[in-house]
Amino acid sequence: MMLTLPDVFTPDEAARLREQLADASWVDGKSTAGAQSGEVKRNRQVDEDDPIGRVLGDEIIRRLTAHAVFMSAALPRRIYPPLFNRYADGESFGFHVDNAVRGIKGVRERVRTDVSCTLFLAEPESYDGGELVIRDTYGTHAVKLGAGDMVLYPGSSLHKVEPVTRGERWASFFWVESLVRQDQWRSMLFDMDVAIQRLTAQQADKDSLLELTGVYHNLLRHWADV
Ligand code: NI
Repeated sequence: MMLTLPDVFTPDEAARLREQLADASWVDGKSTAGAQSGEVKRNRQVDEDDPIGRVLGDEIIRRLTAHAVFMSAALPRRIYPPLFNRYADGESFGFHVDNAVRGIKGVRERVRTDVSCTLFLAEPESYDGGELVIRDTYGTHAVKLGAGDMVLYPGSSLHKVEPVTRGERWASFFWVESLVRQDQWRSMLFDMDVAIQRLTAQQADKDSLLELTGVYHNLLRHWADV
């Protein structure tokens, strides 16, 4: 399932995040890449130990854990501390698949990367190129969103970032280990939750809603790894 979440942050908030990030320490993006993806990765990233990145990453996680659609779509068990990158002057990241399991620096915890997330932080008019291109069973999708909008997609997908030929692309990226490992199962649960919420808003028949909600929870119980 590929899903866009508009307005996770407002454009003004995204501008403030960019301003704060400008003062962080930026390193070569190859620092967190595996050997294979390192060959096709050309960008800069905030140093994983940088306190500014840590604080802003926490802010993103707080925002998302209060975001009903994100919670329903990702069903997070763990969220990898958000990282930040920027691309300019023709920088790009060729096709790759993200590492399946990532250790969190400084702690013993590891995260299985079921869901990949990109939070766009720059205004799309301010740069050319920089599309996130995701290849899945249904074809190839190019994603370029407004500042503060986010996309989630299966961690298993091949994806790349097109060269940035003008201006600068800023983003945060991170992964979610989901309670439900299979993308198709998460997708069905999400569709069901959306339908239940819609029926609830329409004040649909209460007994039917009760039954549907029961089925949702029993499927989640069946599929969740806790
Ligand atoms: Ni990637």
